[in-house]
Amino acid sequence: MPGFPPGLVGALREARRVVALTGAGISAESGVPTFRDAQAGLWARYDPRELATPEAFEHDPELVWKWYAWRRGLVERARPNAGHAALAELERAAPVFSLVTQNVDGLHREAGSENVVELHGNIRRSRCPAEGLTVEPDEAGHAPPPCPNCGSPLRPDVVWFGEALPAAEIEAASGAARSCDLFLSVGTSGLVYPAAALPYEALENGATVVEINPERTPLSAHAGFSLRGKAGEVLPPLVGAAFG
Ligand code: APR
Repeated sequence: MPGFPPGLVGALREARRVVALTGAGISAESGVPTFRDAQAGLWARYDPRELATPEAFEHDPELVWKWYAWRRGLVERARPNAGHAALAELERAAPVFSLVTQNVDGLHREAGSENVVELHGNIRRSRCPAEGLTVEPDEAGHAPPPCPNCGSPLRPDVVWFGEALPAAEIEAASGAARSCDLFLSVGTSGLVYPAAALPYEALENGATVVEINPERTPLSAHAGFSLRGKAGEVLPPLVGAAFG
């Protein structure tokens, strides 16, 4: 077990309101590729940042749908890892806990987390862009399949680059960040706003901010504790030391 800096374990144990913000890094150990990883096989020549946009879907819905179908396949085969499990355990131990994730893979709920705010949607769901409703496609052979209610081509229920985040989710995340005593930032590069602003909202409220990431990020210099390591290796002993 790594030694933790003095004060960290006690701060986690004593915090009454805890928020964890997660990004693609927490799913890396489950084998889910991030947008910034090189893509495999068929998709290697595409830049994900150019496929995950409303313009790309308008221009070539079939291509974008098929890319998401491929990513959904990867996500459905992935299993939560020790980092996800440790955050589910932290939720059971902390008096008030919110998990805010930028990930669309659904792995936090699969690991047992309950109070989960999905800022960027969920890749396992589809949405009718005409009606704004989450729907279950029933003609899986089509790319994209038609909405069972109105026939419009369905889209994945995720937030694309250039799109606004769902208002209720960002409000819940921001409210939790502004009222917490301890804020964990795990596996996120801190480059994509508004999620990247959340730890600073917590800092302004006087919260202890703890970062877990193998690499330095723009948040590292501001966090009270910045731990260099993998989520699946750092979180289980940290939660264990505070509550085990
Ligand atoms: N444990 C913890 N952190 C890790 C691990 C690991 N095992 N492996 C990688 N990381 C870190 C990387 O060092 C990097 O800082 O995870 C971070 C991943 O960064 P991004 O790929 O930028 O992911 P994220 O911050 O979630 O991106 C935000 O941008 O790609 C879009 O919409 C997408 O939700 C995503 C958003």
